[in-house]
Amino acid sequence: MAIKKIVKYGDDFLRQPSKEVHKVSKKVQDLIRDLLDTMYASNGVGLAAPQIGEHLRVFVIDTSTNDEPLNPIVFINPKIIKKSGAVVSHEGCLSFPEAYTDVRRYKNVMVKALDRHGKPFVLEAKDGSLLARAIQHEFDHLEGILFIDHVRNRFEADKVLMEHGLPPVEEDKLLDEAEMEEMLKEDGTVD
Ligand code: NI
Repeated sequence: MAIKKIVKYGDDFLRQPSKEVHKVSKKVQDLIRDLLDTMYASNGVGLAAPQIGEHLRVFVIDTSTNDEPLNPIVFINPKIIKKSGAVVSHEGCLSFPEAYTDVRRYKNVMVKALDRHGKPFVLEAKDGSLLARAIQHEFDHLEGILFIDHVRNRFEADKVLMEHGLPPVEEDKLLDEAEMEEMLKEDGTVD
């Protein structure tokens, strides 16, 4: 369909929650194609509808590597129905060009969603895999949550954001993840 302009960090649009999809209409199909076209054109692993200007609960993920065939997964009205464990994830986001930092994520998630035909499916992603982390990252976008809200070291994150000409971490958006931090310590992942 079309490669869309990606909404960048600093735009309040990314902070607003998205609405449920009531019908997998032509408009939603077009949105899915635009998401895939834009994600592949930007070499991204995932992209959520609000990042291309639509507040609808839709995101796409493809964790295939260069030598593998494309493997797009479409999620409509996703719900995370199980989550456990914690990992440190070095993440970036197409709305934050070139800026990467460490964030906390659950290690395992189970997600329920509709596919591009409106058919329900359940997917489990484990062991802090790229898929497990991408599902959480993209799901957050639908809630107006951004990866830097999960940051472990906000000063380091601010430095990275500044280097890339982006606004600093929004202090009032930082998530209290004391429980995850405990899990990371128990795991021996961090000191
Ligand atoms: Ni993102």
